[in-house]
Amino acid sequence: MTKKLKFQASKGMRDILPENQIYWRKVKKVINNLAESYEFGLLETPILEETELFIKGTGQFTDIVEKEMFSLRTKGEDKLTLRPEFTPSIIRAYLERGFTSLPHPVKLYSIGPIFRYERQQKGRYRQAYQANFEIIGEKDPILDAQLIQLFFSISKDLGIKNLITQINSIGCPACRPIYRRLLVSYYRSRSKNVCTTCQRRLKQNPLRLLDCKNEKCIDIAKDAPQIIDHLCNDCHDHFKSVLEYLDEIEIPYILNSNLVRGLDYYTKTVFEIWPEDGSGRQIALAGGGRYDGLVKLLGGKDISGVGFAIGLDRMINLIKERGIKIYVRNRPLVFLIQLGELGKKKSLKLFEELRRVGLRVNSSFSRNTMKAQLKRADKAGARFTLILGQKEALDETIIIRDMESSSQEIVPLSKVIEKLKKKIRKK
Ligand code: HAM
Repeated sequence: MTKKLKFQASKGMRDILPENQIYWRKVKKVINNLAESYEFGLLETPILEETELFIKGTGQFTDIVEKEMFSLRTKGEDKLTLRPEFTPSIIRAYLERGFTSLPHPVKLYSIGPIFRYERQQKGRYRQAYQANFEIIGEKDPILDAQLIQLFFSISKDLGIKNLITQINSIGCPACRPIYRRLLVSYYRSRSKNVCTTCQRRLKQNPLRLLDCKNEKCIDIAKDAPQIIDHLCNDCHDHFKSVLEYLDEIEIPYILNSNLVRGLDYYTKTVFEIWPEDGSGRQIALAGGGRYDGLVKLLGGKDISGVGFAIGLDRMINLIKERGIKIYVRNRPLVFLIQLGELGKKKSLKLFEELRRVGLRVNSSFSRNTMKAQLKRADKAGARFTLILGQKEALDETIIIRDMESSSQEIVPLSKVIEKLKKKIRKK
């Protein structure tokens, strides 16, 4: 049995190890490239924000605010919270940092950790990573569709297929209260049969009754009135347009009348993207929607917004589960081998020179035998090795070895870069 260590990472928090960085680097690279093509500006906000921002923005009776925030009080008695999501922070920065005077819509994206005190289960972490996109100041339904298209472009570039959009409209302050009354009256007569959480939801947040994962509650939700049948004209037309745009760009979707999302600010369109793997698991890779009242709620003008966030941990888990190959150009072109004291000394400088001219170079300075270093060069997949031994160091020369053909050439040390470049061009 392994001895229990004195210190371990906190529950639900993980180290991202060097061998996993290729996934993280690739995912972030694809996201950054596409964010740029879709003209989003990168905004980095602090990880800690005033607790009140999330109570107001995310919503007082949401699971996030009621149960999941990591909050603290500073020595100066400020109440702060580790962001459980990006959206309220982005709107706070939009209002605070002069974005309001820019031409609209304002398009911002962020990548980083979020913190939620969740029950531990697969795909749920207490420190998770999101890429979050917001478009502020435009109510055109084409943007709702374009955000979903952006997610599918990212997935395509990562080689992730078989995904499905779950989509719904949850109305607006004009039509939702009417629907809510209908829903409450449906559930009131069944309140004894729902779980205790849902009994509370019935009073505080009735829409959340629809996406309870408890078996008994799922059955009851099946026959509940559907909001889609009770949308006002404006919400109805908006939703119809979003679906027409999705049809046009051939994005696969399912109308899911029980999708209500767990955050309070949503109006009209809400969506999640799930993997289609036949297991029936509901692991959302991304989620988002429109929030036409949030900017005003946080102290700004009455303008629209729409956004979504991708769960990077879940994207990477899926890439691994499905065995999707991530190709990165990290194979070194050149491996520098050194032998003897003088060779070792000179190779330190040469390594830096090779790197500076843009050659991908590796070395293993702490290994001293030719055999061990050649083995490493081979394992790393280098196309050329440079061998700087005691004799070469004295003669101011170096050996270039072609790893494919095993042919070798001795060249003056001062000419090595020029010679190497010539050989690379020839290949
Ligand atoms: P959300 O649905 O709470 O939405 O999170 C978006 C995605 O982040 C989820 O679909 C999931 O992939 C990932 N995620 C969230 N929590 C965890 C966790 N504990 N462990 C692993 N992955 C997680 C939002 O956060 C909204 N702010 C999205 C948005 C932006 N809506 C409008 N604009």
